[in-house]
Amino acid sequence: MTFDEVKRVAPARVVFDSLSEIRLLAQNPLRYRRQVIALKHFLAQEGCTGLLLDDLTDDADDLNMHSLVHGVIRLEHNALQYGAERRRLRIFKMRGRSFRGGFHEFVIRKGGIILFPRLIASEHLDGKPLAEPLLSGIGELDQLLGNGLDRGTSTLLMGPSGSGKSSIAMQFVMAALARGERALFVTFDETKAILMKRAAGMGWHLDRPIASGQLVLEQVDPAELSPGELTGMVRRRVEADNVRVVVLDSLSGYQNAMPAEQFMLLLMHEMLTYLNHRGVVTILTLAQHGLIGSMQSSVDLTYLSDTVLLLRFFEAAGKIRRAISVLKKRTGRHEDEIREYRLDNRGIRVGPPLAEFQGVLSGSPIYTGQHGALLTARSNGHS
Ligand SMILES: Nc1ncnc2c1ncn2[C@@H]1O[C@H](COP(=O)(O)OP(=O)(O)OP(=O)(O)O)[C@@H](O)[C@H]1O
Ligand SMILES: [Mg+2]
Repeated sequence: MTFDEVKRVAPARVVFDSLSEIRLLAQNPLRYRRQVIALKHFLAQEGCTGLLLDDLTDDADDLNMHSLVHGVIRLEHNALQYGAERRRLRIFKMRGRSFRGGFHEFVIRKGGIILFPRLIASEHLDGKPLAEPLLSGIGELDQLLGNGLDRGTSTLLMGPSGSGKSSIAMQFVMAALARGERALFVTFDETKAILMKRAAGMGWHLDRPIASGQLVLEQVDPAELSPGELTGMVRRRVEADNVRVVVLDSLSGYQNAMPAEQFMLLLMHEMLTYLNHRGVVTILTLAQHGLIGSMQSSVDLTYLSDTVLLLRFFEAAGKIRRAISVLKKRTGRHEDEIREYRLDNRGIRVGPPLAEFQGVLSGSPIYTGQHGALLTARSNGHS
C-alpha cells in the first residue's frame, strides 16, 4: 500500500512515523529487517528520501537499524532539576560527508525549531590585526589598566554585590557607543527597567542607542535559556550585527541554572575563545559572596579571563568607599596600585593610586593613609 502511494504521489520525502508500528506489524525481527531493506531499495529507486522516526521503544533493534540507513540522528530531551527542559541532538552517522560531532542544542517554539550548532572556537580565527584598545573614557581607569582593554580579550569584574560591577561594565559600553561601535549587554539578574533606571541615574541615557540598534540590551532568564541558545544569541550579534563589546552580567546568576560547574567552565571557555578570535572585548561580572570579610565566588573564572579587576568596599572617615585594582592582565603591563572610585549622578570617577591599604584581597581592606587623598563628593553628586 505504501509503495503504491509513493508511486502515485512521487514525493521528494517520505516520513514513517514511527518504526515501532512497522516493527509490531512485522512480528519478528528477521521479517522486520527484510521489510526495512525492501523499503530502502524501493525508496532509492524512486529517488525519494525516507525519514524513519523511532521512538526508541525497542533498544535492542537500534544497532541493526543503524547499519541499514545512511544517517542516524538522535534527539534527547532532558528535564533539569530546575528551569526549562533542554533538548539536544547528536549525529551518530552521516554517510559520505563529515559532520559536526557532539551535542547540538535546539528549541521548539512558536514558529518552528531553532538549532544551535555546537560552537568550535578555532573555526572562527579571523586573523585581522587587532585594533587599538577600548578606552573607558576615564583616564585614571585606563591608566590603572595600562591603557584600557585590549581587543580580543576578556575581562572579569569581581566584587561584592553593589560594588559597581554592572556600572563599570556599562562605562566601557558607553565608551564603545561614543566611538560609534556596537555593543551587546546581556543581563541575567537585573531587569531591563532597573538597569536603564540606574544608568539614567548616572547620567547615561540608553533609549537612543537602543532604539537605533547600536546597543542591544538582552534580559535573560537563566532558567529558561539553554547554554546553546546563549552562545547562539551572542554569535548572531557578533556575526550579523558586528557587535564589538559583549557584557555578560552576571555569571553568578547564570551559573545557578547550570547543571554542573564543569559545564559552565567548558561553555565559557568555548565562548570566550570564540569572542577573542573575533576581536571582541568581552566583560564578565561575577558577584562574590559576603559584602565584607573573606570573599568567595561560586565559580573560578579567573584563569579563563585575560584581565581580572577586583572591586572592594572599604571604610574610611566614617564612610563606605570603593576601591579598584587589577589582579592580572595577560596582554601587558598594568598598575599594581589600588585606586578609589566613586559612583554618582554624573557617572564614575577614579582617584589617584592610594598606597596605604592593607588586606584588599582578603575582602576587608583597611585604609591607613591620609584622608585628604580620598575622593570628595562633587557639588551635585550624592555618594
Ligand atoms: N546615581 C548614583 N549615585 C550614587 N551611587 C549610585 C548611583 N547609582 C548607583 N549607585 C551605587 O552603585 C551601586 C550599584 O552598582 P552596580 O549595580 O553597578 O553594582 P553591582 O556590583 O553590579 O551590584 P550587583 O552585584 O547587585 O549586580 C548601588 O548600590 C549604589 O550604591
Ligand atoms: Mg550588577
